Amino acid sequence: MLFIANFKANKNSKETLAWLSEFHKIQQSLSISKPTVIIAPSFTALEPSAIFVKKNTWMFPLYLSAQDISEYPVGSYTGEVTAYELKEIVTYAIIGHSERRKLFAETEEVVNKKILAAKSQSIIPIVCISSINEYSKIKDVSIIAYEPKEAIGTGKAQNPNTAFKILKTIKKNNILQKVLYGGSVGKENVSGYIQDGGFDGVLVGSGSNDPSNFLKIIQYAGKK
Ligand code: PGA
Repeated sequence: MLFIANFKANKNSKETLAWLSEFHKIQQSLSISKPTVIIAPSFTALEPSAIFVKKNTWMFPLYLSAQDISEYPVGSYTGEVTAYELKEIVTYAIIGHSERRKLFAETEEVVNKKILAAKSQSIIPIVCISSINEYSKIKDVSIIAYEPKEAIGTGKAQNPNTAFKILKTIKKNNILQKVLYGGSVGKENVSGYIQDGGFDGVLVGSGSNDPSNFLKIIQYAGKK
C-alpha cells in the first residue's frame, strides 16, 4: 500500500526537516502492516531530506519523490531540474499533476517526455491523470494516481463509487499497474478507497501538511 505526501510549494527546507523529525518520532505508533511511504518535498528540501531519511531508522520503507522533473536531459536548460540531477536523491517523480497541467500548460506530449526522462535515469514515474482520456495518452508506467480535478484541494473527495469505475477501467487495461486515488483524502475517507475499493494507495496533499494527521491517514487506511 502506497501513501504519498505531496507538500506542493508549502514548506521550505527547515519546515520539511521539522516535519520529518516529528514524523520519525511518532512513526512507532503505527500499527498497520507495512505501508510504503513516499514523501515529496520541494526541490530545495530534497537533499537535506535525503540525508535525514538515510541517517534514521524507519518502521517501514520510506522513499523520496520529486514533485516534477524536467523533460530535458542534462544540458543548457536554465532553471530546469533534470532526471540526471535528481537520480542520486529520489526514487520517484510525480509527473503531470493537474496543477502543472492547468497552471503551467503541461501537455500530454510534455508529460510523456518527462516520463521518458525519468525512466532514462531509473526514476519511477508516478503519473497523475484526472480522466480516462488522459490515461489513454500515457504509456508504460507502473504507478498511476487518479486525481479528479474537482476533488483536489477542495475538501470534496470524489464519491468512491465513481472513483472505482475509473480504477476498474485502468485495471482492465493493465492489471499490474498500481492505481492510487488523490483529491481531498483524509482520515475520515481513506478506508473507502483502500479497504472497500481496492486502490493501491493514496496521494495526499493538504492532509499531509501535518505529520500526525498524515500518520492517522495511514493508520485509518487499514480500518473499516
Ligand atoms: P489534496 O491534494 O489532498 O489537498 O486534495 C491532492 C493532490 O493535489 O495531489
